[in-house]
Amino acid sequence: MYEKRAPYQVHIETFGCQMNEYDTELVRALLKARGFTFTDDRERADVVLMNTCAIREHAHNKVYGHLADLKTLKRQRNLVVGVLGCMAQNLKQDLIDHESIVDVLVGPDSYRRLPDLIVQAIESQEKGPTRKGLAVDLSEYETYEDILPERAEGINAWIAVMRGCDNFCTFCVVPYTRGRERSRDPQGIVRETQHVASQGYKQVTLLGQNVNSYRYDGWDFSRLITAVAEVPGIERVRFTSPHPKDFPPSLLDAVAGHPKICKHIHLPLQAGNDRILQLMNRTYTRNEYLALVEKIRRRSSDITLTTDLICGFSTESEEEFLDTYEIVREVGYHAAFIFKYSERKHTIAARKYLDDVPDKIKADRVTRLVDLQKGTSLKKNRGMVGRTVQVLVEGDAKKSSAQWMGRSDGNITVVWEKGGSTVRPGDLVGVRITDASVTTLFGKELASR
Ligand code: 5AD
Ligand code: SF4
Repeated sequence: MYEKRAPYQVHIETFGCQMNEYDTELVRALLKARGFTFTDDRERADVVLMNTCAIREHAHNKVYGHLADLKTLKRQRNLVVGVLGCMAQNLKQDLIDHESIVDVLVGPDSYRRLPDLIVQAIESQEKGPTRKGLAVDLSEYETYEDILPERAEGINAWIAVMRGCDNFCTFCVVPYTRGRERSRDPQGIVRETQHVASQGYKQVTLLGQNVNSYRYDGWDFSRLITAVAEVPGIERVRFTSPHPKDFPPSLLDAVAGHPKICKHIHLPLQAGNDRILQLMNRTYTRNEYLALVEKIRRRSSDITLTTDLICGFSTESEEEFLDTYEIVREVGYHAAFIFKYSERKHTIAARKYLDDVPDKIKADRVTRLVDLQKGTSLKKNRGMVGRTVQVLVEGDAKKSSAQWMGRSDGNITVVWEKGGSTVRPGDLVGVRITDASVTTLFGKELASR
């Protein structure tokens, strides 16, 4: 039995993308307003929530692993277990039926119902069998406009500018788990930026599944990001992700021209072969993508390009894969996220196409692309040696608290010895690059004036 009454302690684990990080902050705000407190220690929690991802099978498996761990904990004492986010939305009742330890299941558009469902589960558990709670309605309007997220400490604040996606790439589960696309009021986004600036955050990252389709009362994304970048106190603005099909020239102008908008564009390619692109419903061709890259590079050679790639989509042949390989070599990305195709329930591909590329071949294609990309990343990073980059200090380096870690404007990780450094997280500092690895630049801090 619970030995204490409220305030109950909640432990939240977040999986998946940055949008999920942001949603966890929304959930924390909703729970805090209802008197819940939070703990980093799962062993001490009354409620354990997992904010989940459904984008690939691997993401699901991670959550199943954690649920298995929680079974032991739940046998020892009363505990409410909740699954939130995309996996909850995608599997719905199935998850409650098959995972008996799940008490509460809430999808991305139903977080407002979460506090009530948790209270209901706790109160019923105190008396007898837990009353399970399910809230998985998708909404055409919910943007949590009035909720100010309970943000994690740090220098970066995530701000979702839109929710959902209407693109229906055939491999992607997001339109089914996050529903229809809807944009937030720009005034609310600017106010939220002013608020985070007053709290001391130095960087804002604007989030949306496809930021190019942001629309609100005559505002488009370029106008929005520029307004955000004008907020005093904010040093850097990042965004993710645009879609290559409708990348507006005004956004390129903003990235290339505005000193506070970071010179980094994440431009998901997915595949480099026209038949596969069409099968994926990406609505651009290889040549159109290359023309966009060319336009970006011509406008500013300083812009860092990164991408997402999928290997082994339905019916992808070796020759078609080689088209992807070639375009990746040709573009020369600074970094790439490379995935094996993972068939997802409900998607168009799951309904219409065969997942017929053997896993071994998918894995082999991933390895070849990863090797190619590592070579390019290393070459690009080595090319930075001798240059001075402006770095926004984030905190201690992962490997040593004797070193600082931060990021360049182009989003490359930079690490350097603290020595007698007087900088603090949130400061912008010049670092002269002396060495480089595939993922990291190493350097020396320049004396501040
Ligand atoms: N299988 C593999 N990768 C996927 N992605 C999205 N759906 C799938 C899937 N079913 C990748 C895409 C996307 C990134 C966020 O995840 O590359 O851009
Ligand atoms: Fe998924 Fe495509 Fe929407 Fe991205 S743009 S979230 S890949 S459907």
